[in-house]
Amino acid sequence: MQTIQANNYQVFFNEKGYEYLNNILLPQTYSKIFIIVDENTSNYCLPHFLAQVATEIEIEIIELEAGEEFKNIETCLQVWHSLTELGGDRKSIILNLGGGVITDIGGFIACTFKRGIDFINIPTTLLSMVDASIGGKNGVDLGNLKNQIGVIKEPTAVIIDTHFLETLPGEQMRSGFAEMLKHGLIYDISYWNKLKNISTLNTDDLDNLIHQSVVIKNEIVTQDLTENGIRKALNFGHTLGHAIESYFLENENKKSLLHGEAIAIGMILESYISKEKGLLSTEEHHEIKYILSDIYHKVTFDQNDIENCIDLLIYDKKNEFGTVQFALLNKIGHCKINETCENNLIYKAFEDYKS
Ligand SMILES: NC(=O)c1ccc[n+]([C@@H]2O[C@H](COP(=O)([O-])OP(=O)(O)OC[C@H]3O[C@@H](n4cnc5c(N)ncnc54)[C@H](O)[C@@H]3O)[C@@H](O)[C@H]2O)c1
Ligand SMILES: [Zn+2]
Repeated sequence: MQTIQANNYQVFFNEKGYEYLNNILLPQTYSKIFIIVDENTSNYCLPHFLAQVATEIEIEIIELEAGEEFKNIETCLQVWHSLTELGGDRKSIILNLGGGVITDIGGFIACTFKRGIDFINIPTTLLSMVDASIGGKNGVDLGNLKNQIGVIKEPTAVIIDTHFLETLPGEQMRSGFAEMLKHGLIYDISYWNKLKNISTLNTDDLDNLIHQSVVIKNEIVTQDLTENGIRKALNFGHTLGHAIESYFLENENKKSLLHGEAIAIGMILESYISKEKGLLSTEEHHEIKYILSDIYHKVTFDQNDIENCIDLLIYDKKNEFGTVQFALLNKIGHCKINETCENNLIYKAFEDYKS
């Protein structure tokens, strides 16, 4: 599969990625290699990864506990200490081998350690392949509020090896698939049409679809790295999706939702809002609701849940001058950014979701 050029780095696929990696890891380039993994990628991905890497540079493995609840500044502190104790310096390189949690936090650690060292993302979940590892957003959560602390800095490279998906649980595949569907909805109707027939697709198709998603995300991000314009389209489904994700994360009586599961609900709600604002046709709203509801299980929201989710919107990091910002759809394949929405309409969207 063809290498994809981003602003200042490239996204390599499969064996091309390892060729690139082994080339830049020739002696004298880096003083030490730190591979950040979580307990699962340490088990499932690290052996395969290490078997592809040929280097004389010393490698240290830093293993973190798996899960969003560890994507915080306390974990960074531990890793900054480990890097220091293990002799990390400005010429060290960090390889982030994991899902979005590892690429987000590992990228942030690399951007801040010694005022910034090189890092390469090697995503191992579908979600991190098509989304989190691409585009230079790195960061951590602040308490239960998602991605409040972070920096935008592009990685040195991204290496996508779809072999890693073989051990990924089905629910995690579905979670990543939500971001692929989003790419179709905001940018490319023909891609959406391919994805909505996913039950008939085989593994080769999946590789091509992943490639296509990366092309779309990269095309958007390269035009607007710092999110002043078109990059906001990637937030479709995320204003309400993030609030729902945070609420379920902090509420002990609720089973946490995966990122993509929350975003799928967000996309259904925000499609309804798009329709009510006269942007999206009723047919297209129904199509989106039908396809997404078929893939993602329904979550129940009572009045109190809805109110709590709405309250959380004030913390959304996309807010400008205290106003909550939405990226909505004006038809499938086209996004309209900088939209606002009355709370009243958000309640109606939840009611429609429940129906
Ligand atoms: N930076 C961005 O632009 C961006 C974009 C989207 C999402 N994100 C972030 O990404 C995170 C979600 O990423 P995620 O869904 O990859 O979560 P994750 O990193 O928690 O991975 C999900 C689970 O899968 C396990 N896992 C990873 N690879 C595996 C493999 N190959 N086989 C078996 N198990 C494996 C992990 O250990 C974890 O338990 C969120 O924190 C979200 O905010 C960031
Ligand atoms: Zn997302």
